[in-house]
Amino acid sequence: MRLTDQFDRPLGALRISVTDRCNLRCRYCMPAAAYAWLPAASLLSFDEITRLARLFVANGVAKLRLTGGEPLLRPGLDHLVGQLSAIGGVDDLAMTTNATRLAAEADALHRAGLQRLTVSLDTLRPERMEALARHDRTSAVVEGIDAAQQAGFTTIKLNTVVMRGVNDDEILEIVRFAGSRGLEARFIEYMDVGGALEWRAEAVVSRAEILSRLEAAFGPLAHLARAGDPTAPAERWRLPDGSVVGIVASTTTPFCGACDRSRLTADGMWYRCLYAEEGIDLATPLRSGADDAELAAIITSGWRSRRDRGAEQRAAQPGRAPLVPLTRLQQDPRLEMHVRGG
Ligand code: GTP
Ligand code: 5AD
Ligand code: SF4
Repeated sequence: MRLTDQFDRPLGALRISVTDRCNLRCRYCMPAAAYAWLPAASLLSFDEITRLARLFVANGVAKLRLTGGEPLLRPGLDHLVGQLSAIGGVDDLAMTTNATRLAAEADALHRAGLQRLTVSLDTLRPERMEALARHDRTSAVVEGIDAAQQAGFTTIKLNTVVMRGVNDDEILEIVRFAGSRGLEARFIEYMDVGGALEWRAEAVVSRAEILSRLEAAFGPLAHLARAGDPTAPAERWRLPDGSVVGIVASTTTPFCGACDRSRLTADGMWYRCLYAEEGIDLATPLRSGADDAELAAIITSGWRSRRDRGAEQRAAQPGRAPLVPLTRLQQDPRLEMHVRGG
């Protein structure tokens, strides 16, 4: 029987964070001066992740995505990819990465069975990346994308978080860069998630504004139906030259009604929403000898009771400000986007 939550949403996709660490400090995600990291001993091993993933898949998950922090900071990630791709019933195995370390890993990841890549790329300008992410790694990112294409990744998306006054003047350049390389550019509205301490409504560039800028530069856009995947966060448009651009409008136009995804942190907490305050602890039962049936029961009852629609609730709030104050983030780092996976 199909497992659904309180709003009849199926359990469809699992985002697996493999580390909370990141080698960049993007301002929309990690603007603070210092962070507390998850203790190394608390990180799930690849075997533990695979065991949980198998149980999620047995209960309806067909799409897995590796996230971080930066997932490629976890050594030997291709081994985990190999283990996950061997689970029967996984239709889609993808990873979201900043690509700074992708050049050296792309080949092994592809051979291990990784199917798709999403690369976070907010600017192509070195001095701007230095300001936005505290380190300029633009050339490493472009080399990583090149290496991934050479390794055989045919579906690579670029994720650009658009911030007013920071990188919103680069939208057209990024579309051209993506088009020239056969990548799909996707623009993401700046979200007021945990960790986005600098978030302000004025810094959000809305989907409507992004579309009008694209249309002014490139001509009329054709809206594409969310063909095949009504749960995908991005809506897509075709430019007159045939290339496709996606927009994730979670801030102004939340899509919680169709949300089929949940998140597993690197230390085994399961969050049923990006905005959820409480997670479900899978690590403790996993490590204290629970059998598969017991773990599966936690997953199924957790999903059945799910009522989350965090982005919709945020959108309904007057006078939106950053979601979680710094002092609270310091007490519970799992409230941070970089811990629960971007
Ligand atoms: P595809 O499977 O390629 O469509 O990937 P995806 O869009 O699910 O994954 P990706 O990591 O590229 O997500 C893009 C961005 O969309 C994320 O970094 C978030 O900013 C946002 N996003 C992803 N999932 C959710 C979600 O469940 N809720 C909300 N509100 N935003 C999300
Ligand atoms: N707003 C929108 N997207 C965010 N991400 C992290 N923080 C935010 C935020 N405040 C997402 C971006 C980035 C990925 C790693 O996480 O898509 O590319
Ligand atoms: Fe899903 Fe929560 Fe994101 Fe809404 S805010 S789309 S319920 S993860």
